[in-house]
Amino acid sequence: MDWTRIPRMGIGQRWDGEPLDRFNEFFGEALEYIEPNLPLELGGLPPAMPKITHDAELPLATTGELNSELVAALVAQVRAASPPWTGEHFALASTRVTGNLGYNAAPILDDTAVEAGVWHVTRLQRAYGCPIALEAGPRYLDVRGWDDHGAILRISKATDCGILVDLSHHMVSMLNLGRAPEDGLSPEVLERTVELHLTGLGRHRDGRHFHDFHGGPVAPEVWRLLDWILPRAKNLKAVTLEHDASVDDPTYAADLRRMVRALEPWRSSCGH
Ligand SMILES: [Fe+2]
Ligand SMILES: [Fe+2]
Repeated sequence: MDWTRIPRMGIGQRWDGEPLDRFNEFFGEALEYIEPNLPLELGGLPPAMPKITHDAELPLATTGELNSELVAALVAQVRAASPPWTGEHFALASTRVTGNLGYNAAPILDDTAVEAGVWHVTRLQRAYGCPIALEAGPRYLDVRGWDDHGAILRISKATDCGILVDLSHHMVSMLNLGRAPEDGLSPEVLERTVELHLTGLGRHRDGRHFHDFHGGPVAPEVWRLLDWILPRAKNLKAVTLEHDASVDDPTYAADLRRMVRALEPWRSSCGH
């Protein structure tokens, strides 16, 4: 059970439980899998629909215990969906059962947090029965030049989990911290990158800070980063569009078309 043994899934769409009309319109043509954002009722999804599950609620950087009720609910849902891998965030979040901004609490990147991450990922992979792909949330404050993907790489090496690079989170962090777009995306990180996320970028009213935004078009900086990363991420298995239902139809269709075009060399190179 490790990141080297997972299959290619292609292009997918995040799902927060909204009606499936838009997904169905593009499934089979551009979209190849759905990515439910757990916890979520999965009963309405066709059992044969290819799925990669995802969760942003567990605080995997905490030195404390995880919410056991939430863990039990997630384990039941992941096992029912039986995905090839499941996404989790390396973040400090509350232990509440609901809420969707937990990933915004970026962890303090010291050895203690990395050890906590190794502990939680090891236990969860066993409970889920599949590998985890670990994702960094956006970072807003640059305290000591911390390297989120470097910390996740250490956890990946210790647990054999894969890495999920959210290109929008990463651009948010790099813009907020005044760093180069590819900063932290080292060859070792890219070797273990199995999944990418992309969506819009939100700009704070102060004009200087950016935040994650699922309600608008993929930003030009994110398209550029996608083009940069594709030839370098040799073990990439899946690319997920995270647009939500508030993105209008023409914007959604245009972004998905561009994504398919950008990913064409990757899809043909891996026999898609
Ligand atoms: Fe996520
Ligand atoms: Fe994401």
